[in-house]
Amino acid sequence: MPTMAKDRARFVCQACGATAPRWAGKCEACGEWNTIVEEAPEPRPGPQAKAAPGRRLALVGLAAATEPAPRTLAGIAELDRVLGGGFVPGSAVLVGGDPGIGKSTLMLQAAAALARAGGRGIYISGEESVEQVRLRARRLGLADAPLELAAATGLGDIGATLHAERDLALVVIDSIQTIWVEALDSAPGTVAQVRASAAELIRLAKSGGFALVLVGHVTKEGAIAGPRVLEHMVDAVLYLEGDRGHQFRILRGVKNRFGATDEIGVFEMTDRGLAEVANPSALFLAERRGNIAGSAVFAGIEGTRPVLMEVQALLAPNPGGAPRRAVLGWDAGRLAMLLAVLDARCGLRLGANDVHLNIAGGLRVTEPAADLAVAAALVSAATDRPTHAGMVYFGEVGLSGEVRQVAQAEARLKEAAKLGFTTATLPRRVARGGRQLATPEGLRLAEIGHLSDLVSALGPPG
Ligand code: TYD
Ligand code: MG
Repeated sequence: MPTMAKDRARFVCQACGATAPRWAGKCEACGEWNTIVEEAPEPRPGPQAKAAPGRRLALVGLAAATEPAPRTLAGIAELDRVLGGGFVPGSAVLVGGDPGIGKSTLMLQAAAALARAGGRGIYISGEESVEQVRLRARRLGLADAPLELAAATGLGDIGATLHAERDLALVVIDSIQTIWVEALDSAPGTVAQVRASAAELIRLAKSGGFALVLVGHVTKEGAIAGPRVLEHMVDAVLYLEGDRGHQFRILRGVKNRFGATDEIGVFEMTDRGLAEVANPSALFLAERRGNIAGSAVFAGIEGTRPVLMEVQALLAPNPGGAPRRAVLGWDAGRLAMLLAVLDARCGLRLGANDVHLNIAGGLRVTEPAADLAVAAALVSAATDRPTHAGMVYFGEVGLSGEVRQVAQAEARLKEAAKLGFTTATLPRRVARGGRQLATPEGLRLAEIGHLSDLVSALGPPG
């Protein structure tokens, strides 16, 4: 039997963390190109480590009374909500996002708010000098907050500090990609460095009982640069997203051991930092222009909140060649399905058209409930007739063209009424077992059972 090579350098994919025996241009595990990098081997445990006897575990029952995890509020309601009610002491949160999206700004605001409220917060920057962080704090009007700062990148120093300090509530490390462990040969930001420093910081957070925030940059594919492994090590993963052309930012929970995921926090970028947006629907619809074909308003649910947003469709004739399907903010496969259903069940043939679909404002929608709004935008674009300006849409569409019930219809209707909409197109009542909906006053319901009802309501192609 061939002996396993010991202590040989490893080749690690910086995108997914998979290891390969030799260098290759393409990672076999995730298919990314030019992501494999040679890393020094991880130190092996000595022979005595293997021999160390385990301690016998104390086994306990399920029914033991456990207190709900206590929380440390960040003092920014949108952030606290995405966290599931504030930071959990001893837990680690990864805050990811594109460079320049506002991660440092948001975390400085959160740490300062927490410090102002009496919690002890430390902000360690590996990217900016203390003076730069101070300047930013002054610009954001936070200079008076009793937040403690340091600029450092060596894990040895950071670890010694965090180990010695007492009564910490929150520690922000900005960013994890700049932190390095002296004992490892690899460069900062590589999988080995990020994994080793994150593991040590998480251990310190658990023993010190403070909440740890690791800020991480994201590659354009959406993975935390280098280590997707990091997502598995932390308790919660939040992404700050947004369209650079727009002034709002969305904080999205994609993993949370202590709360619900898919919760979003909405912020507006101002010269004083990120401001909370209490009414996201109004913001997302602010730039909507009435009476334009190819636009429909979707009454969606993001996390626990109803949010209205505009779906826009544009068709352009493309008689020859393969028609383009360009989608922003929605699933391309779902669009293909809807186009096929519109074709097969409603006779709306868009095969010779390029289709551009966009959720206005840069939101990303994953709910199937958006089907009906997308279909309405497509039909409206095809017929060149605007949808009713006071109409919202929601409902899932099945392969036979049937319109299916979706969750939280009442919350959607309430939000629509709140924003002054007068009509809602939604799945028929039979689809929810005949239950009567509590309809807000002034809102008329247009219940439909099949996609063809929508097509005939919007009129034949003009
Ligand atoms: P920054 O927080 O540094 O982004 P990240 O840490 O994600 O790389 O923000 C990028 C720039 O945008 C920075 O120069 C400050 C500016 N900015 C504002 O002026 N207002 C804001 O509300 C935000 C979020 C950023
Ligand atoms: Mg930053």
